[in-house]
Amino acid sequence: MISPPTDLVHRLRRHQQEHVLIGWDRMTAAERAHLVDQLAGVDLTELEQLYARRDEPHTALPPRDLIAPLTVEQPTDAAVAIGEEAMRNGEVAALVVAGGQGSRLGFDKPKGLFPIGPVSGATLFRIHAEKVMALGRRYGKPVPFLVMTSHATHADTVEYFEGEHYFGLMPEQVQFFQQGTMPALDLATGKLLLEKPGELFLSPNGHGGTLTALTDTGLLPELKAAGVKHVFYFQVDNPLVHVCDPAFVGRHIETRAEVSSKVVFKDDPAEKVGILAEIDRRCGIIEYSDMPAEMNEERTADGTLAFRAGNPAIHCFSVEFLERVTTGVDRLAYHVARKKVEHYDPATGETITSESVNALKFELFVFDALPLADRWLAVQTTREDEFAPLKNATGNDSIDSCRRLMTDRARRWLASAGVAVADGVAVEIAPSFALDAAELADKLPPGLVVDEPMYLS
Ligand code: UD1
Repeated sequence: MISPPTDLVHRLRRHQQEHVLIGWDRMTAAERAHLVDQLAGVDLTELEQLYARRDEPHTALPPRDLIAPLTVEQPTDAAVAIGEEAMRNGEVAALVVAGGQGSRLGFDKPKGLFPIGPVSGATLFRIHAEKVMALGRRYGKPVPFLVMTSHATHADTVEYFEGEHYFGLMPEQVQFFQQGTMPALDLATGKLLLEKPGELFLSPNGHGGTLTALTDTGLLPELKAAGVKHVFYFQVDNPLVHVCDPAFVGRHIETRAEVSSKVVFKDDPAEKVGILAEIDRRCGIIEYSDMPAEMNEERTADGTLAFRAGNPAIHCFSVEFLERVTTGVDRLAYHVARKKVEHYDPATGETITSESVNALKFELFVFDALPLADRWLAVQTTREDEFAPLKNATGNDSIDSCRRLMTDRARRWLASAGVAVADGVAVEIAPSFALDAAELADKLPPGLVVDEPMYLS
């Protein structure tokens, strides 16, 4: 019989985790190698420390008098030329985080494959990729497109892009990279959970994993060597995002910000968006689940919410800042989430389904990097123009609300081009056809009437 490697047994025993080896003698050589490999990637000391912190709140906020509303600029076109110059010089890359599945939408594939186009059924990935392609065409320089996946979405995503011939992008322009994983722990005991015999229960390590993965995969140094100075970051679940918006990127460069963020003003305290605020004289985001109730409801003299700088998760990072926060001292800290996890119990050989929360998962949040910046910028955008989050099958931030926002924006762009759209008629504009209202106006004859569903592509 082949015994498990002695050093591994000792290491597991030191951390009371040797239960993961139960059934070792029944595993195939490949299964054993896989388990050893999984365990090699796990920092048991770090997990022990995280388990000890399980009752601490996600974000330890400083006293209230150190938290203030953040100064948010109105968008202007003053710095467009600077942003456009950077685009022409190939200094800006686009990065989409797409490690999530569409499970909340009742969709069992990567969320990026969800067919959201109100007329065309175009997927989120197609919409984003077409924007990146059109930007390259407009500025005469291909924009590097970085697609962060997770172990759950990677293979399907790569296969999809290949099958669609990269939506007109050059294959070498698109870089897929995987975020890391973190094991789930048993809430009651701190023991590593298993998915099945010999297989740790691993989950994506949060979108903050983007930052470490950029460095760990060697992508960041590669981008830098290719002359990229800024990374435009967005989430796959927002089809309206104005990718590499030159006015925003230009202002980011002009102010020498290390990180710039777009903001949507929130008017309903119940809305689930993180809030940008000045925290201890730095820029930070308080996640909606961590927002103290009284701050969430607080209003100014004119009746608006005091803390209303909502986070649409659109940022621009300088490459130098990313280098600083991913190598060394400034690494991000994990948030601890309590979840229900179905898992395999090696002691009984049974699958455990729990009615209540039974596990801890650990995630890094990308916006925890914000307070590490010495210079930051926040610029307002509007929901109608740029924020149609797709989160739920029905209700708020749903498939319907997302499609409605897409159609409404398309109708406004058409109206500004002098095109009349009949009431209730769905319209959609492919980003490869027009990236903005001005480009659309250049392409369409005024006086056109749209009286049936139309996909302008
Ligand atoms: C997120 C933000 C919230 C913001 C809102 C805007 C967090 C913690 N909060 O909330 O402040 O106002 O979006 O829509 O992010 N993802 C990965 N890997 C992971 C986890 C997530 O790639 O390990 C990606 C998902 O694919 C998705 C995005 O990150 O594109 C957001 O994740 P989600 O869980 O939907 O965040 P929200 O709770 O909606």
